[in-house]
Order: sequence, then structure tokens, then C-alpha cells
Amino acid sequence: MDNLDGIIADAKANFDSITDLAALEQAKARFLGKSGALAELQKGLGKLSAEERPRAGALFNNAKVQIEALLQARREAIAAVALEARLAEEALDVTLPGRGRSRGGIHPVIRTWQRIEAIFRSVGFDVADGPEIETDWYNFTALNQPENHPARSMHDTFYVEGGLLLRTHTSPMQVRYARTHKPPIKVISPGRTYRVDSDATHSPMFHQVEGLWLDENVSFADLKGVYTDFLRKFFETDALQVRFRPSFFPFTEPSAEIDMAFASGPHKGRWLEISGAGQVHPNVVRNFGLDPERYTGFAFGSGLERLTMLRYGIDDLRLFYDGDLRFLRQFN
Ligand code: FA5
Ligand code: MG
Repeated sequence: MDNLDGIIADAKANFDSITDLAALEQAKARFLGKSGALAELQKGLGKLSAEERPRAGALFNNAKVQIEALLQARREAIAAVALEARLAEEALDVTLPGRGRSRGGIHPVIRTWQRIEAIFRSVGFDVADGPEIETDWYNFTALNQPENHPARSMHDTFYVEGGLLLRTHTSPMQVRYARTHKPPIKVISPGRTYRVDSDATHSPMFHQVEGLWLDENVSFADLKGVYTDFLRKFFETDALQVRFRPSFFPFTEPSAEIDMAFASGPHKGRWLEISGAGQVHPNVVRNFGLDPERYTGFAFGSGLERLTMLRYGIDDLRLFYDGDLRFLRQFN
């Protein structure tokens, strides 16, 4: 029994030198296991006299309890160190300033697109979508554009394989829509269009919105009324400088181009063409599959980039496509 204190001291020193739980369980066997240090001593208990045995038994039990307590304390210490390490590793400093995420915004030309749809829907127009890769027939022939018309040349039109082309305007949608709907027809069709064109007011890819109103007794006067009303709503003012300038399109007669002046900014007073328009040509109404003696109407095709330029006082439409965030953020 004199050895008990020595064994306890030994166990403590041994446990304290251990830093992982698996090794600690092995050390436990050395002191508390079946052939451990205590078990060896326990064998001697039987040889003691009846008077000595209870005291020795109590000391023995006490030593066992102490070693178990040391073991448990060490287990907890090792677990605490592990927890500390994990907490340190996973530490998150919630007081650091955030990296910040900038908010995205709708592109100004797309915003124009959305506003145009809302304005025309509010006065009873349908909105139709159509293919950007077109046939020659829908883009030109059906629109009364003769085979030798200069717009059909390679200098103006992007041709793709299979005799198809990238539509040069949204006007083919007049034909597609009118051939599949019965009058009265009131429709707009916004979308992308393509031309071999590039400068401050022309982009090879740009957006147009086509408008068509066809019914009995719809005239050029209605075009002026509807279009002027649209512009007032779009620009949110009645004080607009707009002019209808006589022009020519094979698919309208009479025809006009519509110009608008910048209302403010460094370009104030400068005219910019926004639209082609006119009364739908009888040959085109025939290609709709309708009788031009009965049905008349007007059509227009407006540039969305041009309308956006006028609304925000921007003189170069290439800014819309440079992807410069300093420019685009101003519209958020
Ligand atoms: C046409 O495209 C006719 N289809 C418009 C039309 C429709 C007339 C219905 C009659 C009836 P124009 O080529 O003028 O016409 O183009 C119409 C508008 O598109 C122009 O006024 C301009 O605002 C815009 N536009 C034309 N080319 C470009 C371009 N390269 N980049 C940006 N906008 C353009
Ligand atoms: Mg034009």
C-alpha cells in the first residue's frame, strides 16, 4: 500500500504528458486495466490479515477513484484545447467591414423597351415577338421591296447561311402578325435588328419597335395622334419638339420620318431621327392576305437607342454597348 501515492503521482505525470485522447486511453489501461499497476496491487489484498484488509481496501479504492478523476480531468483538458483550436481556426470577425455588393440595374435601352410596351399596352396594343434570323421574303419581298432595292445589298445587310439574313428592321413582324391575326390589328413588336452600320448614331445591332394599326378607316391622321400621344407619355412632357418629315419607304405611302430635338443638355435643339412611318402600302396589305380597299392603316418603326439618347441627353449610342459601369450605373 506504500506504493499507492507513487502510482498516483506516476499516473498524473503520465496523463499530463499526453495530448491526444487515443494515447490517453492507452495510458488508462496501464494504470486501471486488468494487468495494470492497480490490478497488480489488488492481488496482494488477499494476503493481508483480516484487521489490515479494510483499511488497505479503503486506501486502494481511494487511489482508484483519484486516478479515475485525474483521467477524466485530463480528458476534459484535451477536449478543451481541441475546442479552443477549432474556435480559433473558424473564427469570424463580425466587426470587419463588408466587401459590399453593388446592385445591378436594368440597361437603359431595355428600360426604354419595357416602358414602350407598358405605354402601348395601356392603349390596347398587343405585343408580339419574332425571329431575328429572317427570310428574304418577310424582310424584303412581302414589304414591296423590289429585287434591285439597294437595302438588299451586302453593304447593308448581314446574310447568313441558307439564304437567310439578320432582319434589318422589325417590319417583317407586320407581315408575320397580320397573316396570323384578323383585323382590327393593333400590335407593337420590339426587338433586335442588324445592319452593316456603325457611327455615333448607328450600331450594327440595335433595337427597333414596330407598330401596326390596321382596320377600316385608320388613316395617317391616326398615326400622328397615336404617335404624338406615345411620345408625350414616353418623355413625360407635352413640350416636345417633333417633326414629321416627308420620306419614302417601299412599304408605306405616304411615308414620313419622324425627328425629335434634344430638349436639354449640350445638344439642346439638335434634331435626331427616331422613326420611319407611314400609311401601309396596298401591295403590303395584299401580302397580309387582306383587301386594301377595305383595310387601311399605319405602321411605324422607331429606334430604341435613339429614344433613349433623347430621353437622357446622350449624343453617342456606342456608350450603351461599351459596358462601362461608370456610365451604366447612372441609370440604376
Ligand atoms: C425602317 O427601318 C423602317 N422599317 C421603318 C418603318 C416601319 C417605316 C414601318 C414605315 C413603316 P429606318 O431605316 O429609317 O426605317 O429605321 C428606323 C429607325 O431605326 C431610325 O429612325 C432610327 O431611329 C433607327 N435606326 C436605324 N438604323 C440604326 C442603326 N444602325 N443604329 C441605331 N438605330 C438605327
Ligand atoms: Mg431612316
